[in-house]
Amino acid sequence: MAKLKFGSVEENVVTREEFPLKKAQEVLKDETVAVLGYGVQGPGQALNLKDNGINVIVGQRSGSKSWDKAVEDGWVPGETLFELEEAAEKGTILQYLLSDAGQIAQWETVKKHLTPGKALYFSHGFGITYADQTGIVPPKDVDVILVAPKGSGTSLRRLFVAGRGLNSSFAIHQDATGKAHDRCVALGIGVGSGYLFETNFKKEVYSDLTGERGSLMGAIQGLFAAQYDLLRSKGHSPSEAFNETVEEATQSLYPLVAENGMDWMYANCSTTAQRGALDWWKKFRDAVKPVFEELYDSVATGNEARLTITANEKENYRTELEKELKELQESEMWQAGAAVRKLRPENA
Ligand SMILES: NC(=O)c1ccc[n+]([C@@H]2O[C@H](COP(=O)([O-])OP(=O)(O)OC[C@H]3O[C@@H](n4cnc5c(N)ncnc54)[C@H](OP(=O)(O)O)[C@@H]3O)[C@@H](O)[C@H]2O)c1
Repeated sequence: MAKLKFGSVEENVVTREEFPLKKAQEVLKDETVAVLGYGVQGPGQALNLKDNGINVIVGQRSGSKSWDKAVEDGWVPGETLFELEEAAEKGTILQYLLSDAGQIAQWETVKKHLTPGKALYFSHGFGITYADQTGIVPPKDVDVILVAPKGSGTSLRRLFVAGRGLNSSFAIHQDATGKAHDRCVALGIGVGSGYLFETNFKKEVYSDLTGERGSLMGAIQGLFAAQYDLLRSKGHSPSEAFNETVEEATQSLYPLVAENGMDWMYANCSTTAQRGALDWWKKFRDAVKPVFEELYDSVATGNEARLTITANEKENYRTELEKELKELQESEMWQAGAAVRKLRPENA
């Protein structure tokens, strides 16, 4: 395994050179991989595995849009596409890719088919880490492994089709057969990962929940909204406030950060901008630090899991989410965003 070193910290990383696709195919040659769930991750992982020469079947409840999508994608009912339970019975490796709430609802059905020597695979540490709330406790005689692609299932598939990969984290929770590591890494390569970073279930879920509630999604909207509202309250127009808060960030600056880091983005801005940014960033860090502490505690105590499970197990959870997203869309800031997007130079 390759090592990544950051001062005294060392990380294990698996590369495609040391674990090539040929080796993955060899490890998985006698397995039937049952991808359970055809939502967002399901299609990306199942199609990549199939194109990589792995024996895959899909399990999905029928009478749903996801079933129709599986058929459109070329999975054949009764041959490679089955009801969840039938696929769970046929598979030797069960990739549990239902939504986190769906995993709880279907657990008793899936558990019945976890016979000795099979493997249970997750793309999120949620179900296992919060077992006291999810009830997901696998039998001791199966492998329990994780590969979590760092991005949407849609990107996983698009990048694979383009001949590239997405990085993933991987973890072994239970090694009943002595083959858990090889099975896990082989699946990681098979689903189209570039590099595979080792973690454990708890760390994966804690960092993931913190990240999406924090700087990836929650905190970024909070930061944008605070600056937008301030500029509006000081008499700036909606388009001026939006441009200086969001549009310039996403269109011009974030791509530079992605390419070569924050210092590189700063270095490509005016010296006036650099002076100000260097003077102010620590003040913002210190201001939000207590909120991040509160967030991490809420993740670690299981409070975030409880809130998520309670909200997402309701019948109308999708309509409720859509209602809240609509509120965001209808806020002045994102209405200004829609207007500004129409006026991008490529639309001139
Ligand atoms: N979204 C991502 O790109 C991403 C990235 C990394 C990791 N992950 C992880 O991958 C896993 C799957 O996530 P996802 O985003 O692909 O989920 P999703 O799009 O919400 O997929 C939902 C799947 O679960 C099924 N399902 C939901 N409730 C069910 C129930 N009560 N009974 C039977 N089936 C049910 C859905 O079937 P219907 O369509 O019939 O409802 C669908 O097949 C999760 O553990 C997630 O944390 C996701």
